[in-house]
Amino acid sequence: MTLPRSLLFVCLGNICRSPLAEGVFRSLVEAKGESDRFTLDSAGTGAWHIGKPPDPRSIDIAAKHGVDLSMQRARQVAPEDFARFDIILAMDADNLAALRAARHSGTARIRLLLDDPPMDVPDPYFGGPQGFENVYRLVRSGCERLLEALDRPA
Ligand code: 4NP
Repeated sequence: MTLPRSLLFVCLGNICRSPLAEGVFRSLVEAKGESDRFTLDSAGTGAWHIGKPPDPRSIDIAAKHGVDLSMQRARQVAPEDFARFDIILAMDADNLAALRAARHSGTARIRLLLDDPPMDVPDPYFGGPQGFENVYRLVRSGCERLLEALDRPA
């Protein structure tokens, strides 16, 4: 029995993209019956939305694909996260830079969710529903590729 891998998904507000990434990744591992292998969470680099549920547009797009985000609550990235998590997945290059600047200790690997080739999951907050479709599609493909990479023997 291998130890669970711990993954933290990070965006700016923790109400649009990273809750969706956490929910989609959880649904993929649940579908494989492998929930025990992972500890999953999400957080934001910003503090504006602490304690709030995900944006209704993220809840809706997730529900449309059978993923429930309704129990999630936003939190901000904390200094301990860099020691608690094995891998921290940033949704865009700004989040990546903010995470790298915020880390003073801890061994978490920090990378983009979409890193081959490096690509942002664009911030959908100020746009329309189309942006959330696009976020879902990108997050889903990023989570599938991440799970495949973690399944590959080192
Ligand atoms: P997220 O989207 O980073 O995907 O959660 C945003 C949510 C809120 C804000 C920006 C982005 N905001 O400026 O309040």
